[in-house]
Amino acid sequence: MTARTSAAAIYSGTGDEVEIDRIEVAAPRRGEVLVRMRASGICGSDRHVLDGEWNVPSPTVMGHEGAGIVEELGEGVTGLAVGDHVALVWNQACGGCVNCQSGTPWACTDLRSNECVMPDGTTRLSRSGEDVFPYLAVGSMSEYAVVPASAAIRMPEELPFDIAALIGCSVNTGIGAVLNNARVTSGESAVVVGCGGVGLSILMGLRLAGAHPIIAVDRNPGKLELALRAGATHALLADDATADEIQRITGGGADVAFEAIGNSRTIPELPSHVRVGGRAVLVGMPPEGSMIPFDVLDLCYRGITIIASNYGGSVPARDFPRYAALYLAGRLPLDLLISNRIPLEEANGAFAAMRAGAEARSVVLFD
Ligand SMILES: NC(=O)c1ccc[n+]([C@@H]2O[C@H](COP(=O)([O-])OP(=O)(O)OC[C@H]3O[C@@H](n4cnc5c(N)ncnc54)[C@H](O)[C@@H]3O)[C@@H](O)[C@H]2O)c1
Ligand SMILES: [Zn+2]
Ligand SMILES: [Zn+2]
Repeated sequence: MTARTSAAAIYSGTGDEVEIDRIEVAAPRRGEVLVRMRASGICGSDRHVLDGEWNVPSPTVMGHEGAGIVEELGEGVTGLAVGDHVALVWNQACGGCVNCQSGTPWACTDLRSNECVMPDGTTRLSRSGEDVFPYLAVGSMSEYAVVPASAAIRMPEELPFDIAALIGCSVNTGIGAVLNNARVTSGESAVVVGCGGVGLSILMGLRLAGAHPIIAVDRNPGKLELALRAGATHALLADDATADEIQRITGGGADVAFEAIGNSRTIPELPSHVRVGGRAVLVGMPPEGSMIPFDVLDLCYRGITIIASNYGGSVPARDFPRYAALYLAGRLPLDLLISNRIPLEEANGAFAAMRAGAEARSVVLFD
């Protein structure tokens, strides 16, 4: 029950890199668990923070897409045991508010995790006596993390930890946007703009849902090759002809289009890719404070539905095990989301690779 020290990737609040340093991780309190991390994916949302696009309390232990092994239970924890393999949840819903009770925990009204604190407003992490904040109350780029027990979802032991980690963000976000938010049905046509970890997961969700055609757009040719393996039937290099090509393939616009970049130019273009009565799903997140113009008259005339997707509209305790089971059954090619498996010390190189956009996810492995 003593505090542990842990190597962690820490963002100081300035510059665009993390520093690897040791922190103290306090014992889990009532209702919490201590997790020995085994894998942490690096997500576009971590990059937003390092690039100064989103403000979070600092110093911050980065990472919110992680999996590991339960090492210690706080008081009163039931339903988890020491040794359980778990994937972590970054949208740590209270379970008691009206939205949680209505089955929409992604819309929890008492959420504190986006402030990078535990549900009681405190942190279990410190360095030389000063508070350190876990990004999205996970802080998975660390050998140890403490999370509420409800934010540690048990995963099958045969599931690799790197895959379990990705289920904690990109997979749940992408597939959930298709199945929970857009509720895509078999035979609907779809467009995905941006094929990083999130966009590729959307493509896999579209294939599961039976969408056709499935058009992937990215500015990076390497990503288009992955997109075709993930489920796209058509892959378009983003350029001036993209919009016309989408119209041609879909015969006048797709039933549903997803933006998975968070780019202030591609977001307002999204409705133009869908047909009259179609749905435009916003998954990519722009820099904080971005005001993005839409042609509202066009949206009204054409009856377009804009869907803003948060954490795939998911119920993690329901959805994470489903994605794990689908992967193990060979129905989700999640391995293609991982380009590099790296030690924590190479985190800055992974962020640089993400900015360059040529590769899929880097996943930190803790040995
Ligand atoms: N809504 C949510 O709940 C949620 C959850 C997780 C992540 N996100 C957001 O999703 C976005 C994507 O995350 P990611 O981890 O996949 O990032 P990523 O950096 O891996 O992927 C972005 C992709 O967009 C491509 N791209 C960039 N600019 C482009 C352009 N102008 N035209 C075409 N393609 C372009 C890149 O080549 C890359 O393949 C981020 O904004 C992230 O914050 C949202
Ligand atoms: Zn993420
Ligand atoms: Zn709630």
